Amino acid sequence: MAKIKAAILGFGTVGQGIYHIVNEKKEDLKKSLGLDIEISAILVNNLAKERIQTPGVLVTDDFEDIINIPGLQVVFEAIVNEEPAYGYLCKAIDKGCHVITANKVMFSKYSIPLHERAKSRGVFIGYEATTAGGVPVIKTLKNLLQVNSVKRIQGILNGTSNYILTQMRLNECQFNDALTEAQDLGYAEADPYNDISGQDAFRKLMILSALAFKKQPNWDDVRVVGIDGISLEDVKKAKQEGLRYRHVAEIEQDENGELFASVGPQLVGPDHPLYAIEAVNNAVALDTNYIGTLTLVGPGAGMYPTASVMVEDYAEIIGKRAGFMITI
Ligand SMILES: NC(=O)c1ccc[n+]([C@@H]2O[C@H](COP(=O)([O-])OP(=O)(O)OC[C@H]3O[C@@H](n4cnc5c(N)ncnc54)[C@H](OP(=O)(O)O)[C@@H]3O)[C@@H](O)[C@H]2O)c1
Repeated sequence: MAKIKAAILGFGTVGQGIYHIVNEKKEDLKKSLGLDIEISAILVNNLAKERIQTPGVLVTDDFEDIINIPGLQVVFEAIVNEEPAYGYLCKAIDKGCHVITANKVMFSKYSIPLHERAKSRGVFIGYEATTAGGVPVIKTLKNLLQVNSVKRIQGILNGTSNYILTQMRLNECQFNDALTEAQDLGYAEADPYNDISGQDAFRKLMILSALAFKKQPNWDDVRVVGIDGISLEDVKKAKQEGLRYRHVAEIEQDENGELFASVGPQLVGPDHPLYAIEAVNNAVALDTNYIGTLTLVGPGAGMYPTASVMVEDYAEIIGKRAGFMITI
């Protein structure tokens, strides 16, 4: 059986999740795709770090070792920040590799040039994992857009913020206590700035914008507000009025095609599609012309939700290349 050689860039939470799932699902993927996936190499930053064993896999800190692997066909990217990730993916595409990324910081900025580059080389980009983790919003949107048009997207795109707001309401605790709890449970980073400032949700909203509207608003025109200004008193008052704070990222296109986006806390009532979304869950409500409002809900991050959608992207891409429908 023919082999597909793949590499994983980054071997932290997401990279290790990909490695585990590829190995666990190897036989099923062989059956469904008729091809055997082999993780040939893993790129890390610090070779001295202690890691799980990956027998037979080249582990390197030099991207040239990866890109020069003969017959490499797929690159999973799970590193951090815009660079060197963007440069690596450009090189991988130029080499004729399909790329599958979880890196929202990089992809929010470079999705349009990366897609153009991939098109010119006849390869595919998978990016389901960049936005709302395990919630299949990218593939759903792609499908919908074949017939529907999207007028507005509203989402809870950062699980950490939603967890903090939920705990403040349920346990009547202060913002800092809820944040510490989120960090202890591994939901928030040691440096939670991107989560609580709204920047993480903003980046994901820009990825959805590029897909749904084929463009992004001018980033400087988007008001981005985090949840760090919400006090326990605010939350209690809202609760008495039957309302809940939600951190909402939203974007709408007017009749002239102009985009209006904002990211920040909103008070929502029981009729709102995001009212019931609790704890670390993410949700995306899509307003479409034919279907009406469709709301997707699920885990927005984590090793297995994120890695599994990346392996699904792989199956979809390889299935497309082979020209058959996947029956997993
Ligand atoms: N964690 C989630 O639930 C989640 C969900 C959705 C999307 N994402 C995105 O997925 C990506 C990875 O997240 P993560 O949580 O897995 O991060 P992580 O645990 O911090 O792991 C990052 C990995 O990237 C490697 N790395 C960093 N800079 C590198 C460089 N310049 N060259 C080579 N390797 C480099 C690190 O190497 P060392 O091990 O040597 O330090 C590490 O293995 C991020 O872009 C994140 O935003 C994460």
